[in-house]
Amino acid sequence: AIDVSRLTKDTGLTTLDYGFVNTAAVKSRITYIDGDQGILRYRGYPIEQVAKSLTYLETAWLLIYGELPSASELEAFDERIRRHTLLHEDLKRFFDALPYDAHPMSVLSSGVSALSTYYQDSTDPHKPEDLEISTIRLLAKLPVMAAYAHKKSIGQAFLYPDNSLSFVDNFLRLNFGTLAEPYEVNPVLSKALERLLILHEDHEQNASTSTVRLVGSTEANMYASISAGINALFGPLHGGANEAVLTMLAQIRDSGEGVEKFVEKVKNKQSGIRLMGFGHRVYKNYDPRAKLVKESADEVLAALGVQDDLLDIAKELEGIALADDYFKERRLYPNVDFYTGVIYKAMGFPTRMFTVLFAIGRLPGWIAHYREMFDDPQTKIGRPQQLYVGSPQRDLPAR
Ligand code: ACO
Repeated sequence: AIDVSRLTKDTGLTTLDYGFVNTAAVKSRITYIDGDQGILRYRGYPIEQVAKSLTYLETAWLLIYGELPSASELEAFDERIRRHTLLHEDLKRFFDALPYDAHPMSVLSSGVSALSTYYQDSTDPHKPEDLEISTIRLLAKLPVMAAYAHKKSIGQAFLYPDNSLSFVDNFLRLNFGTLAEPYEVNPVLSKALERLLILHEDHEQNASTSTVRLVGSTEANMYASISAGINALFGPLHGGANEAVLTMLAQIRDSGEGVEKFVEKVKNKQSGIRLMGFGHRVYKNYDPRAKLVKESADEVLAALGVQDDLLDIAKELEGIALADDYFKERRLYPNVDFYTGVIYKAMGFPTRMFTVLFAIGRLPGWIAHYREMFDDPQTKIGRPQQLYVGSPQRDLPAR
């Protein structure tokens, strides 16, 4: 077998692969994707079954530890996470110091980075007990930080977690509860949010997960690596697409130009406009997550009694795009982000929180990959090659 890592050294041969379209940099047992068939499996289990039957935390366990948890394992995991939801009180001052209109994704990545300052004695990726406690702390505290970012953006007081509630219900209360009155969790919301979070939990070597791995490959701690992953997710070509989709749908509605005209603009490359929520590096077929999200969109809006013209625009857009040769030839289908924004909006989340919700969903995947990397004896620091195309050697002008 060819040892690719020695190719450059031994032969001077380097592969140039913009965007790593063909280059595998790791072996992984976590998630399987067949982009042509539209198949996604977590640890071998089809996403459709996982999303229907498991909870967010059960799925997190499955991704991180490789097998389904027993009832007692799950209970202990859940209990441990509940005990770690509180943030250090000083972090409130940290949040207070940020501008009121900060994007919640910036608040979240800064907050996660700041977390490592409180746990400096337990961040060694080579110590199993440090990996374990960092895992628990991140799963417990990220949703609380996300809710803080939300409350800050709307000028409301932060609430303390209520650890008698389930993971998802606690999160809903932290976001939508107030100090003024008790908060009743709506089971429709809770179920729908749990499902959406599960659908986002892992997606193999996407840009943010690869970022977590690259940063982690330097042996940076889990907080630093995941904070970097959150920043990678922020971009509109990745997790930021769910926010961009809603902005796009609202622009189509408000401009009154009609969906067909908008699609024509997208097809004209000069316009530089992309159909957000469409296309995927790996899926050249309907994204299986998008199918499930689309079902949820109808269910949730009906159950909440919400009528949203943006959902109608999204469906019309999908219909026109799927029938159009431009999209057919390029095999562009709706991805997971296409319908999620409509649901998050119906739930009451502001648009700028959408990518934060993606981050909470993706967290178990990031953790699973970070840990898998430290388990793999072949792991080495990530360091791509380049093809130098700059100036040959030259001399500075004489002075
Ligand atoms: N709208 C219009 N045209 C598109 C779109 C789109 N959304 N996506 C791809 N294309 C076109 C490209 O212009 C290109 O056309 P060409 O061959 O004539 O030059 C062709 O389809 C291939 O596109 P690439 O950009 O080469 O595909 P790549 O795999 O690099 O990009 C990406 C994938 C970034 C997801 C892209 O499809 C895109 O920008 N989509 C919109 C943003 C989005 O929804 N991102 C979320 C992705 S899913 C996630 O992160 C959860």
